[in-house]
Amino acid sequence: MKRGLNLILGLTLILGASLGLAASPVVIKFSFVTTLNTPKGKAAQAFKQYVEEKSGGSMKVELYPSSQLYKDNAEGLNALIFNNIQLLVPSATKLKGYNPAFQFVDLPYLFKDAEHFKRFTQSEAAQNLLNSLEKVGLVGLGFWPNGFVHFTANQPLRRPEDFKGLKFRTQTSGVLEAMMQALGATAAPMAFSEVYQALQQGVVDGQENTLSNIYTQRYYEVQKYLSLTRHHRLDYVVLTNKIFLNSLSPEEKQIFLDGIAYANEVAFNEAEKLNQDALAQLSELMEVIELTPEDRAAMEAAMEPVYEEWGSKIGWDLINAIKALR
Ligand code: LMR
Repeated sequence: MKRGLNLILGLTLILGASLGLAASPVVIKFSFVTTLNTPKGKAAQAFKQYVEEKSGGSMKVELYPSSQLYKDNAEGLNALIFNNIQLLVPSATKLKGYNPAFQFVDLPYLFKDAEHFKRFTQSEAAQNLLNSLEKVGLVGLGFWPNGFVHFTANQPLRRPEDFKGLKFRTQTSGVLEAMMQALGATAAPMAFSEVYQALQQGVVDGQENTLSNIYTQRYYEVQKYLSLTRHHRLDYVVLTNKIFLNSLSPEEKQIFLDGIAYANEVAFNEAEKLNQDALAQLSELMEVIELTPEDRAAMEAAMEPVYEEWGSKIGWDLINAIKALR
């Protein structure tokens, strides 16, 4: 009799526990620094929609855009490693602490166009980079594009001599520091969320970023000129962590990975268009400077020494693999 009662109690507990599990959704916190109306923001929204729909609501995606939760520096990366958030999509260069090769995106004039970058993301070299993050508990799920980076300032910038003595906000990157030095300028690395104020207060003279970031961060309010230099790319690495991924059931994991693949497509479909739309808007708000082929050649020549210093640190194998995909 007692054994029978114990059995019923046990079964009730198991049933209750499983019902309780089913009732509490898997929560995926996705932190990013850009606004929703950017390549990363659009892809994030696509991921959310896909995962929540396919899981019938048993998986929830919470989006935290505009640096409202974390800046994507060490703070955000640590939060991801310790599973306080489950997705982070920092620009590749922000992973240099784990592997300096991620600064490849900062190398001047390495990528020819968006298609070239896309080919790279499907290559073995790209997969090797992602795999190198495993040692710190991160899982690299792929690359999302943003686009080419351009300069803004309150004076026209066309040729290397125009940069002399000026200070530019850059992301924290040895390559970008060397690049600014090669132009006779200074790099002032700071978080993305601090750039507008630094420009407004004259802490820096200018900055470099993609068109969609320049537009959505409203830099046109505090910068007069936009120089279409396209001197390097800014693209993202899609990251989750091992603790979270291992906690998912096989079905949940499939939905999660399919959601990333879907968002990947959205990112590649939207990025170029968003940057072009941003340029159309910016043309009304700033003075846009197109470089002549001679200006561009002078800029490229001035930045060439960056490869002498950084080529071996990033790895010539990787650089040559990227060049071979041109
Ligand atoms: C930056 O810091 O300029 C970028 O990494 C922002 C972003 O995520 O696009």
